Amino acid sequence: MDTPNKSGHDDYGGNVMDAIVGKSTLKATPLHPVFVAEISGIDLKNLSQADLDAIVAAINQYGVLVFHNDSSLSDEEHMEFGRRLGPLQKLKMLTMIGKSKPRLKYQTMIDVGNLDETGNLLEENDRRRAYHNGNLLWHTDASFDDNRAVYSMLSAHSIPPAGADTDFADMRAAYNALPEAKKIAVGGLMAEHSIWYSRALGGLTDVTEAEKATRPAAHHKLVHIHPVSGKASLYLASHASHIVGWAFEKGRALLDELTQFATQERFVYSHKWRVGDIVMWDNLATMHRATPFEDTKYKRDMRRVTVLEREMAD
Ligand code: OGA
Ligand code: MN
Repeated sequence: MDTPNKSGHDDYGGNVMDAIVGKSTLKATPLHPVFVAEISGIDLKNLSQADLDAIVAAINQYGVLVFHNDSSLSDEEHMEFGRRLGPLQKLKMLTMIGKSKPRLKYQTMIDVGNLDETGNLLEENDRRRAYHNGNLLWHTDASFDDNRAVYSMLSAHSIPPAGADTDFADMRAAYNALPEAKKIAVGGLMAEHSIWYSRALGGLTDVTEAEKATRPAAHHKLVHIHPVSGKASLYLASHASHIVGWAFEKGRALLDELTQFATQERFVYSHKWRVGDIVMWDNLATMHRATPFEDTKYKRDMRRVTVLEREMAD
């Protein structure tokens, strides 16, 4: 395996990677000075265990992996890729919010596009549109749940002619770059995360108490040690409203300051999609956000499979 380090990449477990990857044909080519690699040399539809181990080693190092495919994986192939890495998230939220039928056949296939259940563009005032608009804010998936998202794999089935890049930021590099005094100051803190907090920021404000009750808030460490790579990382998201035990505004100010610091250009990669691409990211080591496009004019069909820390309760 080819793991160039000359670009100044931090060595996120690179030695382990070299050992594992010896048995796989996986090739990783860095796309950014601190994180992100394009993966080639393997077939996502036909992965050996050595390939999977190499993918995990690569994502431990690079945080975000880009796979260019000639055509989109089928939903079944996409889910099988995820399933081999852990239990999958099932999304029930969108149908509740839209009071609608799902567009996609499987609960584990998360619909991130702008289409309704018949394949037409969502209407301007559709609640699902407001729900998706929350993705325009920097976040990490499912931090509003106790059972956090680990890997997300987003697949591009159709894309608009312009806009709609996805931005990623490296939370390990951001943490490492904090002044030592700041690292100490934020080290023991806990943040509260709620889906309703980020959705309100995205414009979904007519949420009922019954809807809110389906998703209570969760508390997570602001700085955590990544369970697989062992690296320290900030764990931030638009879902994080405040710091537990602090006055709301004081916590808010700290979260805003850290988010601004962590999303400086030097820590950010913007992905320009091609149909067939799969981008896989580590939610415990990065943040991401959608960027705008003319979403009432052009179709964008994006589908996500997300691997959780633990099996999801029904
Ligand atoms: C997601 C997400 C961003 C985008 O799928 O989790 O935030 O650009 N997507 O669609
Ligand atoms: Mn997301």
